[in-house]
Amino acid sequence: MRILVTGVNGQLGYDVVKVLKSRNIECTGVGRREFDITKENDVMEYISSYKPKAVIHCAAYTAVDKAEDEPGLCHMVNVYGTENIAKACEAVDAKMIYISTDYVFSGTGNKAYDVNDETGPLGVYGKTKLEGENTVKKILDKYFIVRISWVFGKNGNNFIKTMLRLGKERSEISVVCDQVGSPTYTADLAKLLCDMVMTDKYGIYHATNEGFCSWAEFAEEIFRLSNYKTKVNFIKTTEYPTKTVRPLNSRLNKEILDEAKFQRLAHWKDALKRFLKEIDG
Ligand SMILES: NC(=O)c1ccc[n+]([C@@H]2O[C@H](COP(=O)([O-])OP(=O)(O)OC[C@H]3O[C@@H](n4cnc5c(N)ncnc54)[C@H](OP(=O)(O)O)[C@@H]3O)[C@@H](O)[C@H]2O)c1
Repeated sequence: MRILVTGVNGQLGYDVVKVLKSRNIECTGVGRREFDITKENDVMEYISSYKPKAVIHCAAYTAVDKAEDEPGLCHMVNVYGTENIAKACEAVDAKMIYISTDYVFSGTGNKAYDVNDETGPLGVYGKTKLEGENTVKKILDKYFIVRISWVFGKNGNNFIKTMLRLGKERSEISVVCDQVGSPTYTADLAKLLCDMVMTDKYGIYHATNEGFCSWAEFAEEIFRLSNYKTKVNFIKTTEYPTKTVRPLNSRLNKEILDEAKFQRLAHWKDALKRFLKEIDG
């Protein structure tokens, strides 16, 4: 099966291509150099000529706070860009995996969100990712929508890398403790996506590493495993204002993976241990 992966220069796209290659599956990873996903003709031309059986769409506008200042660009990439990919998939009869986010939910309460729970994004980024989901559903029948959260991977910047940098410079650091969710290691998620794409078990999924934590607990574990003495001060979101409002409850229910007989990802603490080794080596 020939597979096209967008966003190859980002965290997730990089690992998806790595896993596909390790499984000897024919694939190509594309970035901006190959085509800009907002250019309809370029997308159609490339995909019509490559003729993949599936597209794993990892490219996106991911700068959550900046999106509040650049709503047009964010919409262009996450909605229009996704529409272009979906239309090209339809033209060559390819399946599509669209990567979405916990930010499609409002994050009230403390129950884990089921895949069919009511959405209610709080900011520009979440709204555009939800619109991207709806666009995929409208255009295609053969789609997977996979909502993930708190992503970390070797190829890009993320919370762990930021904590390691700040931990070196400071003896203590304040991190929010009232936003709860699950970290997602791209090396683990990539394996699931590569399993998924070989099937026809289409639909909406939630996929993150197992277990829940707050950002502050996440930071503490990063420092503990890295033998840093940095103290984490637990603070409330209200004490750390950001441009966009972030959901307090990002818990995603992953039972849908069990129902479809896909293997769940390892616990986030186990994933973190492996990631720290990966970036060390
Ligand atoms: N990061 C998170 O915490 C998080 C959480 C939940 C869901 N997600 C979703 O997970 C997916 C993967 O995220 P990630 O962390 O791997 O993202 P990432 O590291 O920011 O990578 C995204 C990639 O998309 C590319 N891209 C952006 N605009 C493009 C355009 N117009 N044409 C072609 N390529 C373009 C970027 O290229 P440039 O580098 O050239 O800009 C970048 O390489 C995304 O769908 C994201 O919405 C992420």
